[in-house]
Amino acid sequence: MNEVEVALPSGITYPVIIGNGALDRLPSVIPKASNRAAIVTQSKIGITVEPEIENKVFEIDDGEGAKSLTTIGELCSAFASWGLTRSDVVIGVGGGVVTDVAGFAAATYHRGIPVIHIATTLLAQIDAAVGGKTGVNLPEGKNLVGSFWQPTAVICDIDALDTLPERELRSGMGELAKYHFLTGDPLIEMELKDRISRAVEIKAGIVAQDEKEQGKRALLNYGHTLGHAIENIGNYEIKHGEAVAIGLVYAAELAYNLERIDHERVLEHRQVIESYGLPSALPVSMSDEDLLFAMTRDKKAVEGFTFVLDGPNGLEIVKDIEEILVRETLKKVR
Ligand code: GLY
Repeated sequence: MNEVEVALPSGITYPVIIGNGALDRLPSVIPKASNRAAIVTQSKIGITVEPEIENKVFEIDDGEGAKSLTTIGELCSAFASWGLTRSDVVIGVGGGVVTDVAGFAAATYHRGIPVIHIATTLLAQIDAAVGGKTGVNLPEGKNLVGSFWQPTAVICDIDALDTLPERELRSGMGELAKYHFLTGDPLIEMELKDRISRAVEIKAGIVAQDEKEQGKRALLNYGHTLGHAIENIGNYEIKHGEAVAIGLVYAAELAYNLERIDHERVLEHRQVIESYGLPSALPVSMSDEDLLFAMTRDKKAVEGFTFVLDGPNGLEIVKDIEEILVRETLKKVR
């Protein structure tokens, strides 16, 4: 079993437990003061957890549509009807939708109660469940309402990935692809368990320096500016990792157009995406206008078009990129 510690600037630490059968470690990470556990999951997840304290399952709907303020309201009402208290615990069992919703409900219910994430998708294991980002979508964009609420522990049971639909697993690879460019580690050569552990370590290292995304943490959004726009315009029918994959190729092409990287580095991006069997071209139905508009609404777009871009010093946040260049570069992913 691998264990990565997330150590926050505030002094708070928590474990991310990664391996086959990691689920068995759940009772050991339940806070001592908790008498009850509210288990938030979806019917499709089909994973039973045994926290060894009184518990009740609260199911939410599938898909990004469930990441809404309505779901949060319903969940918190259900917690209140059951009598969940501030010393109890929420356990989110599922992928990014579940961990975002369970985390945000935990962050706001009674002004905050402990949450444990049991990440059952690759995407959640290497990203969503780790680092305390929680939140829901608005019709205007993805993750526009939320809070930072760190979990007490994260459990990544590799066995859970066996039952994942192929497209879901591949989508997780899109998020994994971004880690190739964050440090230059030879991730492609590693076993999946070690690759997941390394991705968690990379993320933990960044979150340790910048918990609330005042700077460096934004680098974890590599490929996400266009990625979020694609997801939003496509009504979330394009999976997050698929959208991020296209976003990574686009970001590499944009960095090339800005003379920050050479052609070989662009090819490296394309090769990683291809090796994971992910798309590198935009759906034909998406217009430049819609994509540009959606990108200006991105949370990072405080100063014009803002992207995380590769360059001679590695990844950096680049602000105020000219619209014409952003528009022209879209042709490279058509
Ligand atoms: N998903 C990016 C982050 O957690 O900061």
